[in-house]
Order: sequence, then C-alpha cells, then structure tokens
Amino acid sequence: MPRDTRITSATATAHPSLALAKYWGKEAGAPNLPATPSVAVTLGGLTTRTTATLATGNGGAAAPPGGDHVVLNGVTQEIHRFSEILAALRRELNLDDAVTISITSTNDFPTAAGLASSAAGFAAFTAAVLAARGHPVDLPTVSRLARIGSGSACRSAWGGFTRWDRGASAAVQIADEHWWPDLRVVVLPVATGTKATSSREAMNRTRDTSPYYRSWVDDAPGVAASVEAAIRHRDIEQLGEAARLSCMRMFATMLGAVPPILYWLPRSVEILHALQELRNQGVPAWETMDAGPQVKVVTLQEHVAAVVHRCGELTAAEPVVSAPGPGVSWSVEPPGAP
Ligand code: PMV
Repeated sequence: MPRDTRITSATATAHPSLALAKYWGKEAGAPNLPATPSVAVTLGGLTTRTTATLATGNGGAAAPPGGDHVVLNGVTQEIHRFSEILAALRRELNLDDAVTISITSTNDFPTAAGLASSAAGFAAFTAAVLAARGHPVDLPTVSRLARIGSGSACRSAWGGFTRWDRGASAAVQIADEHWWPDLRVVVLPVATGTKATSSREAMNRTRDTSPYYRSWVDDAPGVAASVEAAIRHRDIEQLGEAARLSCMRMFATMLGAVPPILYWLPRSVEILHALQELRNQGVPAWETMDAGPQVKVVTLQEHVAAVVHRCGELTAAEPVVSAPGPGVSWSVEPPGAP
C-alpha cells in the first residue's frame, strides 16, 4: 500500500422508523422537507448494519476505481441514487474528490418483510460516514443529514418515539424505547418484490394533481397531535384510532391523484377486514400502511398471538413482531483496517 494512502472505517446500525402519523408531501426549498408533521416509532429487532470506508489517495482494495461505491445486501447500487446524500456528507466533512466513500450495508430482516428499509439504511449510512471521518456523531446532525437520503430516515436516528415537524430539517425524540415496553408492531408481509411507484414519485404526483392534497396537509397536524398525545398517555385505543386515520387519509389523497396511486393488494384489504373483526371482538389491533401493500398492526404484547393467529394465513411471508427499539449506534474500526 503506498505511503500516502489513508483508510478509515466505521460501522453503524439503525432500525426502521414506522410512521403512526404519516409524512406525505414535500415542501419546496431543500430536499425532503415535509409538508405534514409525522410521529413514529423506531422498530427494534430489525437491524441495518452499514460499514463506511473512507480512503484518501490510492485507497487500494477499499477504494474501487471510479469513485464512491455502495453495496446493499451484496448488490452494487447505481451511485446516482446516492448523489445527494454523498454530496451533503462531503460538504459537512469538507471531503474533496481525493477521498472516496465506500458503503456496504446489510439488513438482518427479510427483504420479503416489506419494511421500508430506506429509513434505517440512510440513518446508518450517515452515522457510519461521520464516524469513519472522526466527526462527532451527534443525533441532530445524523437526523438532518440522513433526511437528505430519505425523509423518514431522519426519524431513525433516534430510538423510541419521534416527531418530525412540518418543514423541519431534522426529527426530535419524544420518548425513548423504554417508554412503552408492551407496545408491539406486527408486520404482515402481503407481497414480496419491489414497489411499482417510489414514495418520492408518488408524493410529488399527489401534491401536483390530487384535489384532496390541500385538505390532507391542513388536516394532518391535528391527527399527528392526537398520535403524540396517545403516546404520551400510553393510550392504545387513541393511538390505534389516530394512526389508522392518518394512514387512511394519506391514501385518500393518493387515490385522487392523476393517475391514481393504489398500493393496496386484495390481500391487504382482506387483512384490514380481519382486523376490523378482531376489534369487534375486543382485540385492540389497528392497521397502518405505507408506500406498499404490507400491513403493519399496532397492538399490545398480550394481543400479538391473536393478531398472528387471525392474519397469519393471509400473509406472503412470516409475520415479524417488533417492539420500540434504539436509535443509531456506531463503532470506529482500528486505524488502517479495510
Ligand atoms: O422517507 P420516504 O421517502 O421513504 O417516505 C416515507 C413515506 C411513508 O412511509 C408513507 C410515511 C412515513 O412517514 O414514513
């Protein structure tokens, strides 16, 4: 290895952020500034692990020819998907073109689970690059920068329960992962495979063409406040009802877009009816869904078995049960390690 070569490396972990009050719609100005406030829980037990390697000069094996490099679950990615976050990190860290950034990231949860992995992915990505450079990994900075990769990633910086205000550049924590120990999210995978329309494209289309978009934006703060109050009071009824409302109103505005956006599959709808039956029988279990057909159920530990028993046969893969989990963590590899 030439003497002018310098390699530093760090590994970070992060977990998905599930919105209970949804972010849907972007404001103009900077990348991924939300038009609606969102309130979320960080999903413990589902982990993205990301290693960032910074190589200056001739970086040898750690610096593939052609510059920055991103590998997700063993597959090399088209680098342009990461150009905004890489540019933001380069600005933050004063990195010039002599430094190449290599990222290797894996999820320990099945891709088939259909969990939005971008939130965990960009939070871990950001923390790993900051740590590899020896920059302080403070969570407000991770949150602000991760947002540039994917809006919801700003919430994954923090553990427990988070809020991301309208127009805000970063999320804040409203309670940590120990606040509500028996809260559970049951992820019911309905389909495998990638989604037809990205959240970015769908949000822009909704804003530009749906006549209901303004009402969605005007209504969302009240629902988000109800979700946050329910978390503060650990009130599962209020949380479930408000989370369901936020989800349904988000999809209502999408259905008004041109052309309409419909992420749901027949199985998703079957599960929504099964959950209504469970609620009719007194089981506290409410759905929330994101930019895809998977259904996530908000419930309490003691009711997980009933949800899995009733809905498990409707899924395309094993249900995944999650509890509130921590925010990003990181460690720096010994100097010189590739
Ligand atoms: O951060 P993105 O671009 O993956 O968008 C997230 C959108 C929703 O998952 C539907 C809602 C949310 O607040 O996470």
